[in-house]
Amino acid sequence: MKALVLSGGKGTRLRPLTFTCAKQLIPVANKPILGYVLDQVTSASIKTAGIITAPETGQHVKDYVDDGSNWNLKVKYIPQEPLGLAHAVKTAKRFLGQDSFVMCLGDNVTGQGLNPFVKKFKNEKLDALIILKEVEKPSAFGIAQLDKEGNITRLVEKPKTPMGNLAIIGTYLFSNKVHQAIEQIKPSWRGELEITDAIQEMINMGFSVKAELLDSWWLDTGKKDDILTANARILDEYIQLDVKGTLTCSIVDGRVKVEPSAKIINSTIRGPCVIGKNVVIENSFVGPYTSIGDNSYIVNSNVEYSVIQDNVTVKDIERLEDSLVGKNAKVTRNQRNRTTKVNMGDYSEIEV
Ligand code: G1P
Repeated sequence: MKALVLSGGKGTRLRPLTFTCAKQLIPVANKPILGYVLDQVTSASIKTAGIITAPETGQHVKDYVDDGSNWNLKVKYIPQEPLGLAHAVKTAKRFLGQDSFVMCLGDNVTGQGLNPFVKKFKNEKLDALIILKEVEKPSAFGIAQLDKEGNITRLVEKPKTPMGNLAIIGTYLFSNKVHQAIEQIKPSWRGELEITDAIQEMINMGFSVKAELLDSWWLDTGKKDDILTANARILDEYIQLDVKGTLTCSIVDGRVKVEPSAKIINSTIRGPCVIGKNVVIENSFVGPYTSIGDNSYIVNSNVEYSVIQDNVTVKDIERLEDSLVGKNAKVTRNQRNRTTKVNMGDYSEIEV
């Protein structure tokens, strides 16, 4: 079995960060989201992955994943214009050959591995296994309707009048029959070849298409608040007390990871929280649910529930909260007693 990891798209909802970064590379707990997706692929004993990339950000993805050896994966990069998920499969047809494959969206993270799904797909000799999760806003997703046996009877992409609340989460397992279905479909109203339409076509063609409910959390990191939520989840699940940097007159409280060469001076860090390499935190409070990227400098400030990327300066900010700050950005202040909320792109500068 192969993996097809979708790391293309435009990431318009995460601008301005996505002007200079693929949305799949935005870090949560100081590691790009794509890294967690590839971890799950490796844990399912998959050895070969095709990675779909977009023209603008493909090189960034290549720089991060490189030859895939960090994940023990053999990697093939497949450039694609963003014309839909089924179009991505079509573009990868030669790479996929006759093999079955798991398709994962590179910006979706779940708290559950792929193994149980791979097992079910193989044991039941399915042509498609689609993973679903109940959602509150069905009109934002592909929605599936099931019969009593768990077979999918109908699928609609972003229905205006939803016929249920079971959303397609972006983890799909396919046999090579999916290619026949993709040949039959036409672009949707948004001009894309939808994988949802291809799965519906597989059902119409009589192939065995089943669904499985995800038994854990799932986050589609499409927008700023999703990134902050994903950051909080991952910090909660993965971070243990591990202080490698130096503390001077400082308090570390709870599950806090401080990378080597970081310096915490006269400050309090409250977990769950991760502090990157070479960070300096001085006269400040940082945490809970905050990630500080490498080489950043936090001084005379309070930072909570935020993702601060690499090489950022936060200076004299009384309360920075619910914020996503891109690489090389500066947040400083020129007035007293004001709360600051920002969603800043790489190289932005803001004075409040
Ligand atoms: C895509 C799929 C949709 C699915 C969603 C999950 O939507 O088309 O069916 O529910 O991913 O994140 P898009 O991200 O293209 O809007």
